Amino acid sequence: MNRFTQALYLLAAGSLAAAELDHTLTAVLKSAGFTGTVGQSLEKKLGRPLNPALADLGRLKFFDPSGGLRNDNACAGCHSPAAGFGDSQPMAIGVLNNGVVGADRSGPRNQRRTPTIVNTTFFPKLMWNGRFFDPSGDPFDSSKGFTFPDPEGTTRFPAKDPAFYHLLVAQAHIPPTELVEVAGFRGTQGTIDPIFDQFDDGRGDAVPPPDKDGFRNEAIRAEVLKRLNGNAQYRRLFGFVFPKVASGGPIDFAMFGQAVAEFEFSMTFADAPIDRFARGQISAMRDSEKRGALLFFGKAGCVSCHAVAGQSNEMFSDFDNHNIGIPQVAPAFSRNTGNVVFDGPNQDEDFGLAQITGKDEDRYKFRTSPLRNVALQPAFFHNGAFTRLPDAIRHHLNVAWSNRYYNPLLGGVAPDLLWRRGPIQPVLAALDPKIKPVDLDSDEFDDLVTFVAGGLLDQRASANGLCAVVPGFVPSGLPVHRFQGCGQ
Ligand code: HEC
Ligand code: HEC
Repeated sequence: MNRFTQALYLLAAGSLAAAELDHTLTAVLKSAGFTGTVGQSLEKKLGRPLNPALADLGRLKFFDPSGGLRNDNACAGCHSPAAGFGDSQPMAIGVLNNGVVGADRSGPRNQRRTPTIVNTTFFPKLMWNGRFFDPSGDPFDSSKGFTFPDPEGTTRFPAKDPAFYHLLVAQAHIPPTELVEVAGFRGTQGTIDPIFDQFDDGRGDAVPPPDKDGFRNEAIRAEVLKRLNGNAQYRRLFGFVFPKVASGGPIDFAMFGQAVAEFEFSMTFADAPIDRFARGQISAMRDSEKRGALLFFGKAGCVSCHAVAGQSNEMFSDFDNHNIGIPQVAPAFSRNTGNVVFDGPNQDEDFGLAQITGKDEDRYKFRTSPLRNVALQPAFFHNGAFTRLPDAIRHHLNVAWSNRYYNPLLGGVAPDLLWRRGPIQPVLAALDPKIKPVDLDSDEFDDLVTFVAGGLLDQRASANGLCAVVPGFVPSGLPVHRFQGCGQ
């Protein structure tokens, strides 16, 4: 063979291999039940087109700190547009923050990392332990109502109530009542002050009263509504969408929930290279991403938890809880670094699902993270124990090894999370049997990372896309946070 025919031969062999790769991946996706069409199904599932005026109202509420009684935190303070609407931090910082969203955000930490709201429209179970869920398994189906932990329980959002037509409408009722997120422990000047003041120890962070009967949550919601109804601009904006408000009736909490949910519906970004490939555009993925996808759906076993079929709505999660041996990091013990009491004898653990079920065997179990747009996150897992995507993936391949050599300092974890580590032995002793050591050579590992990073990324969810929705000002007149990742 001369050089020319050799080159032709190699080219032909290469394209044969490429054709084989496309063929195999197409077949694998098909048998996994992956169609790449979930993003396009939004309006069909909703049964109507999106309502732009309602979504825009939700956008303003999402960025307006007035939904929190302390006036110092909004949804976007934790769900940052520069991080795919997930956390800019390894572990959320809520009330008493410094007004910055990004690497320089400071204030007392809560317990977990903020997950993205992008594509949550398709999640049948919400939160790190799946504690808000739709018993029908379909978040668009309210025929069985929605199940939340007490005090909301199964009755606050009853079955078939037309006001609560989607799981996210119900979910939006919760953040305003979260003391460590936005409400604060003492409330503010409003009517609910007496509720907090009776528990006040004078330090500004009184231990919150128990709320078995929902009294506190409803009192907080009433106060949020009082402020909303006292704002002429919001009344006008809600009036455009809700005839009842236009004719003088009050804005109620379901309306608030519907607006926020509509904004979240509009943040559907599920058209990644893997989706386009599955719809027949074979050039949408690079060869390395295709090889990585084959590993993800095959030898590496990822799809057994990061599922795509049926109720998973092609979100790369089985929406089930598993213990995959994540190192336990906790904020340093001093008054300003944390405002949630962690679990366990030394208050340095997170019991995950067991917080809800009370069962020992559910300890350390967390919901399989949906993986779309995961490359936009600055930190990974429920506590931000890893800050680089390859490290988070490598952890899965050998959990024992990962924990033996885990070093949060080298891993780039924030300084206040370096000092207190919960015990790892009880975590490893209860590891999910599905998480088995997987042997990949370094080329395979690179392909897998390339697939998870690039193959699942819808560019519209990147900072370029999402920073465009940050409002310059909000109807309450309160300052909007400064989003560092948006160049602010
Ligand atoms: C203090 C930070 C903070 C604020 C403020 C906040 N969130 Fe969250 N959000 C979180 C954290 C942390 C979680 C996960 C909590 C858990 O699982 O225990 C979460 C979970 C969620 C989820 C579920 C996501 C999933 O993958 O299941 C949605 C939806 C959501 N928040 C919407 C909102 C909305 C809407 C607002 C404003 C009304 C808001 N959040 C305000 C931190 C915050
Ligand atoms: C036994 C079920 C299981 C298997 C198998 C599995 N994962 Fe996970 N994965 C999880 C769970 C559960 C979490 C969340 C754990 C937590 O935060 O405590 C997670 C989290 C992740 C995260 C971090 C996402 C985030 O938002 O922080 C990535 C990335 C990831 N998995 C990728 C993979 C890859 C790639 C594979 C295949 C090598 C894989 N996983 C196999 C259950 C699994």
